[in-house]
Amino acid sequence: MATSYDFSGQCVLITGAASGIGLATAKALSSSNARLALCDINIKGLESFQCEGKKHRIYELDVTSPSGIAETVESALRDLGGINHVFNCAGVNPTNHALTDTTDEYWSNIVDTNVRGTYLVTRSLIPHLKPGSSIVNVSSIAGSRAMAGWAIYNASKFGVVGFSKSMALELGPKCVRVNVVAPGHIHTPTNIAVKTGQEEIDRTAEFASAMGRFGTAEEVADVVLFLMSGAARYVNGAVVDVDGGAK
Ligand SMILES: NC(=O)c1ccc[n+]([C@@H]2O[C@H](COP(=O)([O-])OP(=O)(O)OC[C@H]3O[C@@H](n4cnc5c(N)ncnc54)[C@H](O)[C@@H]3O)[C@@H](O)[C@H]2O)c1
Repeated sequence: MATSYDFSGQCVLITGAASGIGLATAKALSSSNARLALCDINIKGLESFQCEGKKHRIYELDVTSPSGIAETVESALRDLGGINHVFNCAGVNPTNHALTDTTDEYWSNIVDTNVRGTYLVTRSLIPHLKPGSSIVNVSSIAGSRAMAGWAIYNASKFGVVGFSKSMALELGPKCVRVNVVAPGHIHTPTNIAVKTGQEEIDRTAEFASAMGRFGTAEEVADVVLFLMSGAARYVNGAVVDVDGGAK
């Protein structure tokens, strides 16, 4: 059951909004009356987003492109009149690889999107965030625990946690909060078990979560809304696990 918040009069910029956790968060925020700047490299996915009352704009954005980010931020500020909250959700999920089987391209895809993208979007928006604003970044259970075969993804998600905790200290004096949501195994199209099939989902759910099931994107979205809301006004630099109890 989702908790209801009221984000009337507030604008939220979401990256990775075309799919999975970003999309579920966009829907939840839209139902809570927020106006949205929805960004993704997948513009077709964004085009199918529907909400009542034209409360959103869509922007084709690659979060690894500083010039693309500058352009998108300028457009979103002009279109929406300001940005109150940011959800850095664009990301690349891992595939299992022994390190010797990985390539420079794999490193770049994961690290540039997950960490550098979060850095670039944050840097670009900070000057526009007023007191009371917040940023939520996405890490993972892989941002606090190592997993064999996931070294590069681990590096990216530990990186997001360190970056976010530092930003919480830097922006706290301006009353801008920075928090992290750390999902466990969530049923989204690019989760490795979901891509493999139901048998792998069942196997992973059994060994990985005390609750014995995958989480839904909506269950992560609910926590993101809490972290942006006034109910979390003294929560800053936190990493909130959403994993059903990781084993
Ligand atoms: N699904 C899980 O089990 C899980 C667990 C922990 C963390 N996460 C993290 O959650 C975040 C969202 O993942 P998801 O599972 O919803 O995946 P998803 O693939 O459903 O959504 C990711 C979105 O990011 C977009 N994207 C990718 N690269 C981009 C770029 N360079 N610029 C802009 N947009 C880009 C994709 O087009 C897609 O719409 C990721 O950071 C992921 O690592 C997911």
